[in-house]
Amino acid sequence: MSLKLPFFKNKQKEKDDNQFDMENIPNHVAIIMDGNGRWAKKRGLPRIAGHKEGMDVVKKIVKVARNCNVRILTLYAFSTENWKRPRSEVDYLMRLPKEFLHIYLPELMDNNVKIETIGNFDGLPDYTRESIQYAKEQTKGNDGLLLNFALNYGSRFEIMRAIKQIMTDVDSSELSIDAVDEEKFSEYLYTKGLSDPDLLIRTSGEQRLSNFLLWQVAYSEFWFTDVLWPDFSEEIFRTALQDYQRRKRRYGGI
Ligand code: FPP
Repeated sequence: MSLKLPFFKNKQKEKDDNQFDMENIPNHVAIIMDGNGRWAKKRGLPRIAGHKEGMDVVKKIVKVARNCNVRILTLYAFSTENWKRPRSEVDYLMRLPKEFLHIYLPELMDNNVKIETIGNFDGLPDYTRESIQYAKEQTKGNDGLLLNFALNYGSRFEIMRAIKQIMTDVDSSELSIDAVDEEKFSEYLYTKGLSDPDLLIRTSGEQRLSNFLLWQVAYSEFWFTDVLWPDFSEEIFRTALQDYQRRKRRYGGI
């Protein structure tokens, strides 16, 4: 015992010096990017200025996620409830993916990033859909970070949609009701084929899920910060990863 303790301490120190343990990186990080409007208001700017700043933070965080070997980054960019916002803000948010991809797609390609989306894609305006479809096509052969935008996404809608599709498939005898277990159900969600988030981050001090990945976060670790999304930084992201590494994940076991 007396021999083991100093060894453990050294290991711990090594970890602290290196910021975090590269062997224990969350495979899938999901982020609720909240606080753009408040960030803008504090500066006497229109809300869309906060969204613009938030877009640039997305680029920074994609880079850190890549460097830290996160495999999947799911970003909540527009919820099914966000249509309730003023028309001008919705229009701006719908144009952001195109602007983001126009500026950053070459860099994302160079960095082997694959673009995907979850959500009701058909409900998006043509110009949003087309720019994303183009990016998906361009990046489909990439096997580095999966950058997954939740756009026109709502978890309740996703679950209802899955139930309806399962019922249709059972009706047409394509699926047996006995074959429907948790794994099969997951295959009917937008996130089919993706591992569940290991870490869910929400910025801006709010501590709620806002209809985001309700099924998928059953065993995710949650991490909240008061920082508004446009102020979110590489350092804060690394702090979240470090905190994640201190969590004991038991999945209901002991
Ligand atoms: C929530 O903040 C944020 C959104 C609804 C939009 C998120 C979009 C971005 C961060 C831009 C990046 C998008 C792409 C596609 C690159 P809020 O407006 O609800 O802030 P508030 O709670 O302070 O009002």
